[in-house]
Amino acid sequence: MLLNYYIILDYDSLLSFLPFITIFSLLFSLVLVITIKITDGRLLLGYSYFLPFFLKLQPGHIVIYGRTGSGKSNTAKLMAAKISRRLPVLILDWAGEYDLKSFEKLIPGRNFKLNPLQHIYGDLSEHIDFLVDLFGDIFQLSDPMKFMLRKSLKKAFKNTSSPLLADLLDTIDSVPIKSYYDHETKMAIKRRLTHLVEGYFERAFSGMSHDISYIFSRNIIIDLSVFRSVHVKILFNLILLKMLYDFVVSQKLFSSSVNHVIIIEEAWNIVPYRRLDYAPLLGERLFAELRKYGECIIAVSQSPVETSWSLAKNARIVIIHNILDKDVELIFGLNVNRPTSKLSPGEAYVIQDTNVKLVKFFEYNKTRDFFDKIKNVRFNRIFGKRKTTVDSHDQLPEIEFYY
Ligand SMILES: Nc1ncnc2c1ncn2[C@@H]1O[C@H](COP(=O)(O)OP(=O)(O)O)[C@@H](O)[C@H]1O
Ligand SMILES: [Mg+2]
Repeated sequence: MLLNYYIILDYDSLLSFLPFITIFSLLFSLVLVITIKITDGRLLLGYSYFLPFFLKLQPGHIVIYGRTGSGKSNTAKLMAAKISRRLPVLILDWAGEYDLKSFEKLIPGRNFKLNPLQHIYGDLSEHIDFLVDLFGDIFQLSDPMKFMLRKSLKKAFKNTSSPLLADLLDTIDSVPIKSYYDHETKMAIKRRLTHLVEGYFERAFSGMSHDISYIFSRNIIIDLSVFRSVHVKILFNLILLKMLYDFVVSQKLFSSSVNHVIIIEEAWNIVPYRRLDYAPLLGERLFAELRKYGECIIAVSQSPVETSWSLAKNARIVIIHNILDKDVELIFGLNVNRPTSKLSPGEAYVIQDTNVKLVKFFEYNKTRDFFDKIKNVRFNRIFGKRKTTVDSHDQLPEIEFYY
């Protein structure tokens, strides 16, 4: 009798609770779906006070500023680790400090070669213009030297469709000399370029370049620390950016969503400070062009006053770790309670659109993947949509980012 009573009570109470249970589960699902929607396509990178901080990726560039030891590379590594699960990432590792899981390491001269002259796509005379600008900017060639270099390049490309640097030097050698001044010009170019065809550089710069589509469709670290010369590192960086540009143009990968991410350390070498009345240099021009093709460049640099003003002004996202307060004021006019010079390692102001947030970034080697897991469950199991994880980047994944 007593048992019956309990059973009846239990059944009745269950019925009376049914509307509440239904409403609760509906609300729970709604909150879950909203959370997934908000976090979808965004990277969980840290905390802003007590709230999780998500970053929206967009084509264009992101700049990370900060003095040495402020946490710039950690932030870049964290972003690389998170992004690489969805999109191919290429890291141009200036100091040889990147070692990330699921990334392949390429070492110039050992398992990686690049022919700086290789013409991939487009008009040959434009390619020659690029090469003249490239060598001209890096090795500070005078106008007569650039003129002679252009003539030699034209001749070298006539003889073969993909000349090597050694072929170019031979062609420069064969340029007829009409005066002592011509001789001086020729010798000056040779002095600047000869070391690129000798010793270690010869191994890195001779032979056909690696398969371009391979480099830009996988997670790759290129270790530039094998080069001692800053000039050669810059040369390597700029050639890779140009190859990427030629590649995306040839593939007609015109895109309003991010297709590929490239991380450039010590970016002041690639997009250096310039006077406002001077024309932008190659690196700056390539940054601007690449954004049209769904490229997201993450540039890491010490201070905004060392890079071109356009890098800071045109960035989609600016991450400011510990730097001098006067630099922040000068470039961004940022007025914040906590001065940037007082930020501890891993803390930064993040400027995105008109929002400014103080963020404490995670350490890249400590995973906090709660939100990533929710997203994977949603994509792979619940809705059966596209995967968010890309194990093999045989093709550029078609993942859109929602804003
Ligand atoms: N988000 C973080 N949380 C805690 N410590 C950090 C964080 N980021 C960096 N650090 C500390 O600061 C040191 C320097 O970081 P790093 O990223 O190499 O700085 P940078 O590239 O600006 O020179 C790291 O070795 C680490 O100990
Ligand atoms: Mg660093």
